[in-house]
Amino acid sequence: MKKFLKTISLMLAFMLVAGVLAACNSESSGGGSSSSKVSVGIVLPTKDEPRWVQDEQRFKDALSGSEYTTEILFSQGSSAKEKENVETLLNKGIEVLIISPQDGDAAAAAVEAAKKDGVTVIAYDRLITNTDAVDYYVTFDSLAVGAAQGQYLIDSAEGSNVPLYLYAGAASDNNAFLFFEGAWSVLQPKIADGTFTIANSSEAEKLKDKEELTRDEMSKILGQVTTNWDPNEAKNKAQTHLTAVGADMKGDVAILAPNDGTARSIADVFSSDGEVTSFVVTGQDAEKASIQYVIDGKQSMTVFKDVRTLVTDAMGMAVDILDGKTPETTGSYDNGEVEVKAKQTDVIVVDEENVKSELIDSGYYEASEFTGL
Ligand code: BGC
Repeated sequence: MKKFLKTISLMLAFMLVAGVLAACNSESSGGGSSSSKVSVGIVLPTKDEPRWVQDEQRFKDALSGSEYTTEILFSQGSSAKEKENVETLLNKGIEVLIISPQDGDAAAAAVEAAKKDGVTVIAYDRLITNTDAVDYYVTFDSLAVGAAQGQYLIDSAEGSNVPLYLYAGAASDNNAFLFFEGAWSVLQPKIADGTFTIANSSEAEKLKDKEELTRDEMSKILGQVTTNWDPNEAKNKAQTHLTAVGADMKGDVAILAPNDGTARSIADVFSSDGEVTSFVVTGQDAEKASIQYVIDGKQSMTVFKDVRTLVTDAMGMAVDILDGKTPETTGSYDNGEVEVKAKQTDVIVVDEENVKSELIDSGYYEASEFTGL
């Protein structure tokens, strides 16, 4: 019932935003504005990861039926391309920029150019760091993502000295730190009490008695276990780690993998090692390929971040700004320079127990997209 109500309220929220968008359109076209003018520019990091193609699709779904003028551009992993994209959109006269940066620090220059043009900047999913040129931030609860991943490993661990393999996202992405911090907050006591033994990071091993890590300390760990959000890099690291350890770090193991793309390639490496008898591996994003892995028992869990909510929040904010209203926020994030007002959304843990109810019965994906459900 609760889930049903949640689905209904989500649908109502979409309808509300679509309605506001349509109303807003008719007003601007009534003013005789040029048809090539774009009101809201959207810049996403890369088309190469299903996560961001999902966001593009959800933006398109939310905007269909309205003549609202938006344009979505991808930065393809390059901060230079990202800056170029922002300039293209500025030349089209955008009033609001929704941007998920490729590199949180490097994106500062692009959003500073937007601010100079009087554009309101909304950071989308990833925070832009060390600049005062970000007005708002719409995000999932990224600390909760990491904590859910860590907790899943704890709940699945049996006995003591379970080998723990740590992996993380790209250090250029502020979220990678939040995910790791969230995971560490729950895993550290279980490393300290001997439930887990860290298998692949001497830096994490050195810090195992510290409840809270500084950013510098996390950077040292990330320096050893980053995947750079790249499945190939994740695969190579996993292979190197398994080659380096002795038999005592194999057997039944736990793996903190930061997202679905990296989880699948790490899982493939661990499943082909004859001395690894079983593994529990985390993920996030509920990418279709990982949902199939969960159904097939090849990936243990994923953290479902309902992109529809993030899109609704971002577009709702954009519409408020265009209407001259102050968007509603629920908290703030320190970006190293200023406190950025933020709207945050919860996440849901999905494993084989609830994959059908959370992702199929809820209408997020079609059952026909998977086998073995
Ligand atoms: C996002 C994740 C995504 C990762 C790699 C993070 O900032 O929050 O959903 O998997 O980037 O693109």
